[in-house]
Amino acid sequence: MLTNEIRQKYLDFYQSKGHTLVASDVLVPKWDPTVLFTPAGMNQFKDHFLGKVDLQFTRATSCQKCLRTGDIENVGRTAYHHTFFEMLGNFSFGDYFKREAIHWAWEFLTAKQWLAIDPDRLSVSVYQDDDEASDIWEREIGLPLKRIARLGEHDNFWPAGAPTDGPDGVCGPCSEIFFHPDGGDECEIWNLVFTQFNRQGDPPNNLNPLPNKNIDTGMGLERIAATLQGVTTNFHIDILKPLVVAAAEVVGVEYQADSENGRRLRRIADHVRACTMAIHENVYPGANKEEYVIRRLLRRAVLQGHEMGLRDPFLFQLVPQVVTLMGDPYPELRQTAERVAHVVKNEEQHFLGTLDAGLAKITTIFQQMQASNRSTVDGQEAFDLYQTFGIPAELFASMAAEKKCAFDWDGYQGALKQHGLDSGAGSKGVMGDFGPLDEIKRETKSTSFLGYQTDRSPAVVCGLMVEEVCNERGITTGLQQRVAEMHHLAAEQAELGIRQFVVLDQSPFYAESGGQVGDQGQIVGEAGTFQVQDTQKSGDVIIHIGRLLQGTIRQGDTVTAEVDQGRRDAIRRAHSATHVLHYALQQSLGQHAQQRGSKVVDDLLRFDFANLEPVTFDQLTQIESLVNQKIEAGGMVTADVLPLDQARQAGAMMLFGEKYPDPVRMVSIAEFSKELCGGIHVDRIEEVESFEITVEENISAGTRRIQAITGKRAAEHRNNTLQVASALGRFFGLPLFQVPAKVAELQTLVKSLKKQGGSGSLQVGAEIEKINQPPVEISDPQIFSDANGNPMGYFDVRDALKKISQGLNVALPDLKNRLISLRQEALLLLEKIQNSPKVDLDIGHLIAQAEHLDQDISVIIHQLPESDPAQVKIWIDQIRKKKENLAIFFATPQGAQKVMVIAGISQSLVKQGLHAGDWIKQVAAAAGGRGGGKPDMAQAGGIDIDQLPVALAAAREFL
Ligand code: SER
Repeated sequence: MLTNEIRQKYLDFYQSKGHTLVASDVLVPKWDPTVLFTPAGMNQFKDHFLGKVDLQFTRATSCQKCLRTGDIENVGRTAYHHTFFEMLGNFSFGDYFKREAIHWAWEFLTAKQWLAIDPDRLSVSVYQDDDEASDIWEREIGLPLKRIARLGEHDNFWPAGAPTDGPDGVCGPCSEIFFHPDGGDECEIWNLVFTQFNRQGDPPNNLNPLPNKNIDTGMGLERIAATLQGVTTNFHIDILKPLVVAAAEVVGVEYQADSENGRRLRRIADHVRACTMAIHENVYPGANKEEYVIRRLLRRAVLQGHEMGLRDPFLFQLVPQVVTLMGDPYPELRQTAERVAHVVKNEEQHFLGTLDAGLAKITTIFQQMQASNRSTVDGQEAFDLYQTFGIPAELFASMAAEKKCAFDWDGYQGALKQHGLDSGAGSKGVMGDFGPLDEIKRETKSTSFLGYQTDRSPAVVCGLMVEEVCNERGITTGLQQRVAEMHHLAAEQAELGIRQFVVLDQSPFYAESGGQVGDQGQIVGEAGTFQVQDTQKSGDVIIHIGRLLQGTIRQGDTVTAEVDQGRRDAIRRAHSATHVLHYALQQSLGQHAQQRGSKVVDDLLRFDFANLEPVTFDQLTQIESLVNQKIEAGGMVTADVLPLDQARQAGAMMLFGEKYPDPVRMVSIAEFSKELCGGIHVDRIEEVESFEITVEENISAGTRRIQAITGKRAAEHRNNTLQVASALGRFFGLPLFQVPAKVAELQTLVKSLKKQGGSGSLQVGAEIEKINQPPVEISDPQIFSDANGNPMGYFDVRDALKKISQGLNVALPDLKNRLISLRQEALLLLEKIQNSPKVDLDIGHLIAQAEHLDQDISVIIHQLPESDPAQVKIWIDQIRKKKENLAIFFATPQGAQKVMVIAGISQSLVKQGLHAGDWIKQVAAAAGGRGGGKPDMAQAGGIDIDQLPVALAAAREFL
């Protein structure tokens, strides 16, 4: 039976038993801080099990995309271990229990129209004291007792060993079903968990019965497929074998299941499948948390290829095969295949760039360890290796394990922390916390959100919590204490930043989600006023976070909840503008420019999107102007709640890696934008007023970030920009369009003055006069007129300024100061030339007196009175222009003690091999001092004045 068929049959079977089909949660459930990746089908139902949500259904079935790395060393080695896998499951939330769970499992496995497995090939296990389950298997299903094993908490409890070792949270005894193939080992195919306890703390008496008994079953899809397809490893089923074979082809070896290469190819197949599924959901390889896990997986796979002799990226070539094999159940993979392959290739290239050097370093480390009889890899060394060569510590650790060496994980974690990094590789416990918030959640279940209709409403206080101080330095750990009455914080508590929390039955406050920040405002009761500084959500409960300003608030009080309307309006503008920007990005850059992250604040937005190249200046201008056109054109912004499928058909933009509820809320702007979004928006798009991009930057490989402002912030920024532009126009007394040329002129002047004291043609006095002249008076309309006398648009003004400030490498607010100091610098340099002692040099006379060394070379060696070296160079230039084939040497005192010598040579002589630098060096060698220079002009300073005759003699000597 094909894997796709098994998946479908399972979901059909449980739907026929009254289960609601629930789509797979995403691989990285952002709502759940306790796990990095979805580890099991039950994960998305944790709050359902705990009775913390209003149940829309009490029976559910799903096929869940899961990722686990706990057993990664076994992947490729054993028949059944994967990182990415699919888990079929059926769930009961206080509905049916053991009897139905067992009967239906048996029916599905053995009935002719379902899987039709021979019952004689099946056996089960139950928890040691679970007589109820054992009886159902024996008496109702008819399994002989010898095929019902009774095992302890490490085999037949979920999570394994939970009663003794934890984690806290929902758990229960389980019953596993095993398949016995001909000649092979038995294989567990299904785990039925009877979730009936909430574990709290250590034994004894730590298993509290849940109010409702639940069922959570999990059947690994790959494993049941292997069973039904009669293959000895999951890697040989129909949706994996072709990938293993494709890997062999790409690597250029033959796939032999039992060889070392066979194991490597299976590992490659597993890892590239996991990476494809994750990157598709926008989890790119990176430095932290889940992104780091993907980096590790990908690099591990690269290493497998490297061991088989590959030195170029190869994994990316397998992405299309993954998409082919997984595309039926997950058709959306087809839309991102190219992007995913690109990301994979990029990461491969990165890693391969340093891999050889890294492996060489590892070899040296192992040699050193052996020489010094050390058997533990040093954590700091492993950290350095990751930082320098990108070899993840986990890879290093498994190489160490192969050499029977230990690995200093504590030292490694310490080094990570020191650098402010956190691999976040471990999960923080499976079931979450059980503080007072959970108590409130169980009582309240959900806060009705009124914020779409209003920003002010009456409400009843359902729960109050205060943060606890946990150590003498007053650091809070986020632990909360539930209180019936909340008081104004004492000054020292407020100073410690302790926060207070209010939960209401209904609220207009928007809790941070979908990138939109939480609302701020006030909760006003008869006896007290609470200032809301942030709003967050836990499950369906809205939590108002802040501080009681005065008085008291009690549980049960009737209060008025008022959102800060001005701030909310600004957030609405930024959020609607974000949708328009998303639309404009796709129009200008292409469909691939999908959202990868977003933050919406008051009149400020940050939007991350997929794009391989930086966005060019012209593209950015085009995007910005398209957004503004759409805002100006105006139109209704509406939100409709409709079935997910209908939204999809309507062409709503959907993000991969997001799980949407069904029905879903779709926000439409005029006719051009449809996005699934729970945020709060303006009523008409023209309310955004204006939109301006302030930053475009790189975030990580393949991801760019745009920052932009709207409404009041944009207006303020616009005023500032216009003021800077106006100041610049006045500074030069010129319309703005002429300013760039003027700035460039000033820059060139300073550069050439610095270089060699100005060009020979420079009229120093005239230049100074020009700079000192007060600017022509000019009015704003004149400043903002273009070359044709037409008024400039704001964005043209802004772009002109942007170019000027980029050219000068300063931020906009510093632009004018930079110009003032540039002009000052020019003035100082000019004055220095002007004030240097005036020496009247009779150039004609000097040339007439030039000695002829031979027919082709004329020489001037001359002692000048004290002169500015810059001026001396100007003279050399002037003389060289008047006579060919000339070698000039000037010595000029600098103050009472020292002399400077400067040599210049005509280009024609340079071509013949004469070098002014050599000349000067020889003089310096004879007379002291230091110097050198180019073939046509060189100088040396620091020669003592009494060495002047020696210097002149050495100059002559050289020639
Ligand atoms: N949660 C159990 C498991 O993961 C059954 O779904 O095995």
